[in-house]
Amino acid sequence: MKNFKRFQNKKALITGANGGIGKVLVKSLKKEGASVAVTDIDTSKIIADANYDGNLTDSKFCDELPKKVFDKFNGLDILCNVAGVITRGKINDVSDEDYNSTMKVNVEAPFRLCRASIPLMKKGSAIVNVSSCWGLRPGPNHPLYVMSKAAIASLTQCLGLDHAHQGIRINAVCPNEVNTPMLRSGFEVRGINPDRAIQELNKTIPLGRIAEPKDIVDVILFLLSDESRYMCGSIVEVNGAKQVL
Ligand SMILES: NC(=O)c1ccc[n+]([C@@H]2O[C@H](COP(=O)([O-])OP(=O)(O)OC[C@H]3O[C@@H](n4cnc5c(N)ncnc54)[C@H](O)[C@@H]3O)[C@@H](O)[C@H]2O)c1
Repeated sequence: MKNFKRFQNKKALITGANGGIGKVLVKSLKKEGASVAVTDIDTSKIIADANYDGNLTDSKFCDELPKKVFDKFNGLDILCNVAGVITRGKINDVSDEDYNSTMKVNVEAPFRLCRASIPLMKKGSAIVNVSSCWGLRPGPNHPLYVMSKAAIASLTQCLGLDHAHQGIRINAVCPNEVNTPMLRSGFEVRGINPDRAIQELNKTIPLGRIAEPKDIVDVILFLLSDESRYMCGSIVEVNGAKQVL
């Protein structure tokens, strides 16, 4: 249908809005009619309907944010927990501080944001969490990140089950490699040219290339829309057919 907007009159809150996936998601939701509230450490360059700079390691900030958005928009229909940090290194390479900050951003913040949002949401609302293929299977040299992504996948399944009766659908996407600052920074810290590394990585993907943010965002939009009305507690892997690491 021409000019059909799937998210007309929907009110959304997006975390990680300044990141590779988040930026594209915000633009897409706005284009399809949603009012979008964004949060990240720095949202000054994001064009949205409400901007909330903040650190997701701050429990109070997470607990209070959904109500602020609800009051501003007079409703909250959509929550996307996109923000994440990748902490690299084997178990003996990571510190207590790494543990605490990773779990706070990747697990505790989505937990708090879901907990504060669900009571504000009416029937027809949707939450999408961003997990990872590494939330489904082990990956080498990143135990902290992998366990945090498994936790958010599990939280999604549990909440999907518990809140289906309220008509609130909660699902997750699990991307494999996506061309964003998170992936590129991993090459840069190792002194590897990211463009060249991605060319090599592309050869490992059966579909011929790693994902661009839009490849993931289109699946998130599907999960947020009525087109996925019978999906709840699902973990959707988006991997270009790459099952191995
Ligand atoms: N890029 C990949 O290859 C890939 C693969 C699988 C899953 N993911 C997941 O996708 C999601 C989006 O990642 P991306 O690739 O867009 O990465 P990104 O690094 O571009 O974006 C992540 C965003 O989260 C924000 N963030 C991090 N810590 C924060 C904090 N303490 N408070 C507030 N905001 C904070 C960052 O500022 C950043 O804007 C993440 O959850 C990530 O784990 C990414």
